[in-house]
Amino acid sequence: MLIQPADNAAAIALASRLLCEGECVVVPTETVYGLAADATNGEAVAKIFAVKERPSFNPLISHVYGRELAALLAHFGEIEHRLTEAFWPGPLTIVAPLRSDGGVHPLATAGLDTIALRQPVGVMAELSARLDRPLAAPSANLSGRVSPTSAGHVAASLGDRVSLILDGGTTSVGVESTIVRAESDRIVLLRPGGVPREAIVEATGLPVETILQTTKISAPGQMSSHYAPFGRVRLDAASVEPGEWLIAFGPEPVRGESSASGVVNLSPSGNLEEAAANLFGLLARLDRPDVPAIAVVPIPNEGIGEAINDRLKRAAAPR
Ligand code: TXA
Ligand code: MG
Repeated sequence: MLIQPADNAAAIALASRLLCEGECVVVPTETVYGLAADATNGEAVAKIFAVKERPSFNPLISHVYGRELAALLAHFGEIEHRLTEAFWPGPLTIVAPLRSDGGVHPLATAGLDTIALRQPVGVMAELSARLDRPLAAPSANLSGRVSPTSAGHVAASLGDRVSLILDGGTTSVGVESTIVRAESDRIVLLRPGGVPREAIVEATGLPVETILQTTKISAPGQMSSHYAPFGRVRLDAASVEPGEWLIAFGPEPVRGESSASGVVNLSPSGNLEEAAANLFGLLARLDRPDVPAIAVVPIPNEGIGEAINDRLKRAAAPR
């Protein structure tokens, strides 16, 4: 396995060649690292599922370099255009009716008649442009585990299963993209993420309604247990119990903190963006047998805090 800087021309050329040949490459985005393959090549997409040990009924996001390519793959209406105008490139994924002649392999969409599309910031979009093709990419972690926000984090979990990791440093947003679907009079929120709900309301003038992702049809990836670290996770903790580690937020001390087995703070100043950027890195650091229990203080459920709470809830879900 080779780790190369994501801003290096030779590394990008190599990544582009591997993708053309139907290989998977790990590529950074502003949210998390993705395990990318040519979305139009069924064998390449199949490798993503194999490397991640991901159930094949769980569809992938196709990453595009811009709206022009997106419009060849899906039927975008006026609301989708407003959304791309406001948030692309960026951490917003749009689910829209699939164009059957768009060329995306059915394995990437899990045979659904919709497709999830996103224009990310940076090298992933650049590679899509070079190939002039969509790149299917889930987060570059084993299915059900913590999503990677650094190249080292990817190397630790998928290292011997991939040939190239492009290293773009620590990702800036830190949680995955927000996933939405537009209806005539509302936006359906399928997964909270990097773009806050409030910003979508403001950009579209439409109400944003949450649809819980429990069924196979709407978004199978939203399975309840996910991001699970080794130890048990206890949310909304007002105090620390003996033997627990503490995930704190903000400057306020927590009752029992001094007897905690260890303390980490998502954002000592209480900044939610900083907390989102730190979340998966801290969960990965605490993913070890000598951390049997983790208490997490309440996190404000506004802005990107909604995505943080969503991920924490999944990390705490029964396995
Ligand atoms: O930020 C992100 O979104 C990252 C980076 C790499 O772009 N990707 C990511 O992919 O989080 P993944 O595979 O971990 O999550 C994709 C989610 C899954 O929950 C999947 O079920 C959902 O998108 N999805 C994909 N296609 C869908 C569709 N047609 N309808 C509804 N949900 C869909
Ligand atoms: Mg994932």
